[in-house]
Amino acid sequence: MGVRFIFMLTRNDKTVEDAEQHLATSLAAGVHHIGFKDIGLPFERLQKLNDAIKAGGATSYLEVVSLDKESEMTSAKAAVDIGVDILLGGTNVEAVLPILEGSGIQYYPFPGRIEGHPSVLAGSIDEIVRSAQELVSLDGVHGLDLLAYRSSENVTGLMAAVCSAVDKPVIMAGSIGSPERIEIVRRSGAAGFTIGTAALDGDYPADSPELEEQLRCIQKDVAGVNKHISPYGVKNLDQSFAKFSEFWSPRIAGRVNDMHIKLAKFDGEFVWHYHEIEDELFFVHRGKLLMKFRDRDEIVNEGEFIIVPHGVEHCPVALEGPCEVMLLEPATTVNTGNADDDRRVVDLAQV
Ligand code: NI
Repeated sequence: MGVRFIFMLTRNDKTVEDAEQHLATSLAAGVHHIGFKDIGLPFERLQKLNDAIKAGGATSYLEVVSLDKESEMTSAKAAVDIGVDILLGGTNVEAVLPILEGSGIQYYPFPGRIEGHPSVLAGSIDEIVRSAQELVSLDGVHGLDLLAYRSSENVTGLMAAVCSAVDKPVIMAGSIGSPERIEIVRRSGAAGFTIGTAALDGDYPADSPELEEQLRCIQKDVAGVNKHISPYGVKNLDQSFAKFSEFWSPRIAGRVNDMHIKLAKFDGEFVWHYHEIEDELFFVHRGKLLMKFRDRDEIVNEGEFIIVPHGVEHCPVALEGPCEVMLLEPATTVNTGNADDDRRVVDLAQV
């Protein structure tokens, strides 16, 4: 699944004044995880913001940055009233858990000691790890929100230590504003991370400081570090067949695990043969294929395919002129199988 990106509609630990407008931009950019903080906007606007996030098909996050117990409990109650999906942050776990009970809200509090505003994560790595372990041992705690870059310890070491010490997801919050840092977060084993200020201020390295471009670039980089970018595009059969003219000389058009997708042009009759272990699929793209078996003949028309199981003797014949066939078979398959024929091809070219 990889690491997930949570866009925070926040700057310097406060929900921004123009959050609604930025929310529309982020939904249009295809962001699926969107959050805000308990400070910065009145409750009614947070409620509407959350409704709009959910209406846009995204998961909503409320991050608590209030440090005193009373404010944190008020924020937790607000999270329940608003109906957010995930409550991030906060440190007064014993006070918050009863408020969240039965709400269905997932809770990711801060491990370690949090001080000041904007928040700073105090204490040694060992202390933070111990706090993380204590928190995840609680039933109502679903994960952790680690203010890794707000620590003065070795941040990479801290992230890895916390992630390996707990068996619940860890979100890295704060000061992640470059693809290098996203890669470090992924390698630490984190479930996700938040970006707010960097994208809103146009500081993420992208083609433009505009928010939409910032968000698209972050998502592309996240897909990259998660190895979710495919190198393959559409392949057109007519265009691919037009690239070669030799008959009985299959070309490799693609690979699916241990299977090759081959394109071959048939003309006239091939040779009777079988394959000891490989099954073969023949899909007719153009022309008409006759597949001769020892007990019967099968005609395969355009848009039809036939499977020849291993061990079964067969002889393909192009009827009514040349035939264009796409084959799907294990990469080890040799076109002539067990037969001794000079049309045997071992080193196949790509197309
Ligand atoms: Ni064969």
